[in-house]
Amino acid sequence: MTQDELKQAVARAARDYVADHIPAGAIIGVGTGSTANFFIDELAAIKSRLEGAVASSEATRQRLEKYGIPVFDLNDVSEMPVYVDGADEINDKLEMIKGGGGALTREKIVAAVATTFVCVCDQSKLVRTLGKFPLPVEVIPMARSQVARALTKLGGQPRLRQGFVTDNGNVIIDVHGLSIGNAVALETELNQIAGVVCNGLFARQGADVLLLAAAEGVKTLTR
Ligand code: A5P
Repeated sequence: MTQDELKQAVARAARDYVADHIPAGAIIGVGTGSTANFFIDELAAIKSRLEGAVASSEATRQRLEKYGIPVFDLNDVSEMPVYVDGADEINDKLEMIKGGGGALTREKIVAAVATTFVCVCDQSKLVRTLGKFPLPVEVIPMARSQVARALTKLGGQPRLRQGFVTDNGNVIIDVHGLSIGNAVALETELNQIAGVVCNGLFARQGADVLLLAAAEGVKTLTR
C-alpha cells in the first residue's frame, strides 16, 4: 500500500470512530495536514450527523466549508466529544510531535477543548523516541533570535522555517537534533522561554486514541 492509501484507510477508520462515538448533532474538532485532509473528505459522508466542526487552521476551515460542513468559532463552543488530527511522530505513550504543517498552536488550543484526542497516522509515524522529526516552535517574530539562543542552550539546533508565517502571524523555529527522553518536562520548559507562543510537543495532553494504519489493517491503541 502507498502512504496515501494508508492515510485514506486510517481516515475511513476515524470517520467510523466518530460516527460510533459522538451524539447526534455534535460539534467536533478537526486537525490540519494531509491525513486530516483525507479525514475531512470522509467526514463529508456523515455530515448530517454533525452540527459542525471547529477548524485548527485556515486550510482546514476552507476544506470543511467546501463540503458544506458548518465551521464554528471555538469561542462559541464549550464542549467537543472528539478532536481528530495527525502527527509527525508519536510514541507508545501517545505523546506526539506536531506542527510540521505549522498549525501547532491552533491544534493545541482546539484539542484542549475536546474530550478525546484521536490521532490518525500511518505506521511510519510511530517511533520509540521522539525528536528525529525537528520539533516546531511557534515564536513571536521579534523574539526569534533570543528564542533560538535559548533553544541552543537546551541542546537543539534551531532553524528558522524560511518564508513561513503561521495563521497567527508568527514564525516557526524547527529544532533539530533532539532526543526527547521526558517529553512532558521539555514541553513545559519550552513554554517558559519568553517569546515562545507554543511548542509542537503534545505530551502533557497527548492522544487518547491512536488509529494506526499498516498494510495489515488499522490498529486501535489507547492510553
Ligand atoms: C500540522 O501542523 C501538523 O501538526 C500535522 O497534524 C502533522 O504535521 C501531520 O501531518 P500529515 O498528516 O500531513 O503527516
